[in-house]
Amino acid sequence: MQTAHEFFVHELQDMLDAEQKLVQALGEQAEESSRPDLQKAFQSHLQQTEKQVERLQQVFESIDAEAEETECKGLMGLIEEHDSFKEEDPSEDLLDIFNVGAATKVERYEISAYEGLIRLAEMMGHKKAVKLLNQNLKEEQQTLKKMESFGKKLKPANMGMERKERQSAEEHRPSRSSRGRNRRAA
Ligand SMILES: [Fe+2]
Repeated sequence: MQTAHEFFVHELQDMLDAEQKLVQALGEQAEESSRPDLQKAFQSHLQQTEKQVERLQQVFESIDAEAEETECKGLMGLIEEHDSFKEEDPSEDLLDIFNVGAATKVERYEISAYEGLIRLAEMMGHKKAVKLLNQNLKEEQQTLKKMESFGKKLKPANMGMERKERQSAEEHRPSRSSRGRNRRAA
């Protein structure tokens, strides 16, 4: 690879695969959600993502290039993290929290990728591509905000701290035998 054009096409292909993988992943996340508001958020981002795929295809047309199949390894890794987390048999509240965290990671990844693509498109003077990519970028930024507000709202049902708290309370309370000794000494 030698030219900006080749690099741009390479990065575009990566994003096209990422968005296509996300269509499927978001469907799964919506189904897994225990909260209706979260389910709705994933579903609406799924519909947005389908449009983003179309816009990326329009970017290819606008620069007269064809998309070859490739795999976005970055996104694949995030999807694999989700799948192996599910093997841990998480409670539904923890799965919600995990999915919201995963979604914010994905949005940050996509935002960085789109910013890079937009910079390249600007340098090469691809005006239509810049416009289309900016639309995707704006949507990712909005989704990131939405997911961040879920992140602040969701709390695990069980903190798993009870045993530890009891232990440390016992450590600080004088035992019966030492109290007895104190009384005798007095
Ligand atoms: Fe996206």
